[in-house]
Amino acid sequence: MSLTIRNATNPDMPAIVRMIGEFHLDYENLQPEQFIVVEDGELMVGFGRLKPYPDATELGCVGVLHERRKQGIGKLIVDELIRRGPSTIWITTDLPDYFRPLGFKEANHVPGSIRKKLDRFRDFARGKIVGMRYDKPV
Ligand SMILES: CC(C)(COP(=O)(O)OP(=O)(O)OC[C@H]1O[C@@H](n2cnc3c(N)ncnc32)[C@H](O)[C@@H]1OP(=O)(O)O)[C@@H](O)C(=O)NCCC(=O)NCCS
Repeated sequence: MSLTIRNATNPDMPAIVRMIGEFHLDYENLQPEQFIVVEDGELMVGFGRLKPYPDATELGCVGVLHERRKQGIGKLIVDELIRRGPSTIWITTDLPDYFRPLGFKEANHVPGSIRKKLDRFRDFARGKIVGMRYDKPV
């Protein structure tokens, strides 16, 4: 397995959009410049996104091909997005157990944009959706 990470481009978007639908991820305002993709050779095996709001940056849309899960690809994507992101990064997720070991903590107080996102997706998410934050070490 030889994995590479790169910025997404327009031709990646149909596959990303299809998987976002299949994995029930955030479909709002999908712009290629917000995404990174992980490839194994020519094959896209995963993707993720940093979505900027006026008051916050959200890490999201982390998806890995079914047959390539539990191989560390999701962690690779999250770590790279953290590296690229600002000092505080937010997520809205129904998988807190996945993101906690990656350094995210449940937050009671979230920026307005993240609060609105939680409200918009409450009925759409597969389970209870929570806001979490990651603070880069200083
Ligand atoms: C969630 C997802 C991105 C994980 O990707 P992955 O490549 O399988 O994750 P990794 O292999 O990097 O896993 C890292 C660790 O998390 C654990 N883990 C994987 N999936 C998990 C889950 N659903 N819940 C809790 N822990 C999980 C792994 O066992 C691993 O632990 P380890 O380091 O102790 O072995 C992938 O299952 C997926 O695409 N799911 C559908 C989309 C989705 O729900 N995305 C998250 C919301 S943004």
